[in-house]
Amino acid sequence: MMRDRQKKRVAILISGRGSNMEALVRAARTPGFPAEIVLVLSNKAEAGGLAFAREAGITTAVVEHKAYGKDRAAFDAAMQDVLVAHRVEIVCLAGFMRLLTAEFCTQWLGRMINIHPALLPSFKGLDTHARALEAGVKLHGCTTHFVTPGMDEGPIILQAAVPVLDDDTEASLAARVLEQEHRIYPETLRLLASDSLAIERQRVLRRA
Ligand code: GAR
Repeated sequence: MMRDRQKKRVAILISGRGSNMEALVRAARTPGFPAEIVLVLSNKAEAGGLAFAREAGITTAVVEHKAYGKDRAAFDAAMQDVLVAHRVEIVCLAGFMRLLTAEFCTQWLGRMINIHPALLPSFKGLDTHARALEAGVKLHGCTTHFVTPGMDEGPIILQAAVPVLDDDTEASLAARVLEQEHRIYPETLRLLASDSLAIERQRVLRRA
């Protein structure tokens, strides 16, 4: 069995419900998983996911973005202090709805990942399911990627596609995609934490 000190120390950043965070926490509890969740950090004290994290015995922290007004650099610096204090090695954004400064992203380059509810590079940004329905695409899905300063632009790690059905609503499509998010995000963290990924320009390759 992998000893805990060999596991990568992971922080999950959330803003809301935290279902992807839950999926990562559950995966990290399985034998041999190469990462441990040492911190769940939210920019909102009322984020629903914090209760699950606390009940799971995981350290939680809140850095309220509102306290920093428009000063994104100061907010990011405050988050960085918390991450450093917990000796975090990998950051997972899981429904974290704040744009991060280029400086913060650069500090975590190759060590910070995100899940996005669309098949990037289509439908960057918000309201992805409504926009997919509006555009009439027949396939939709989710993407995990490394985080770079450009929004939803980093090298793609994994993707999962789902069909768009004729009677889909935004909610039904979101639910079908979310099921896949909960599958590919833990797998992405497993690959990163076991040093199985290599970034070559915009492409992510599996190390032999
Ligand atoms: C997820 O669908 C995630 O992909 C999306 O927010 C939702 C959070 O749900 N993220 C983004 O839109 C990032 N741009 P969760 O809190 O239950 O994981």
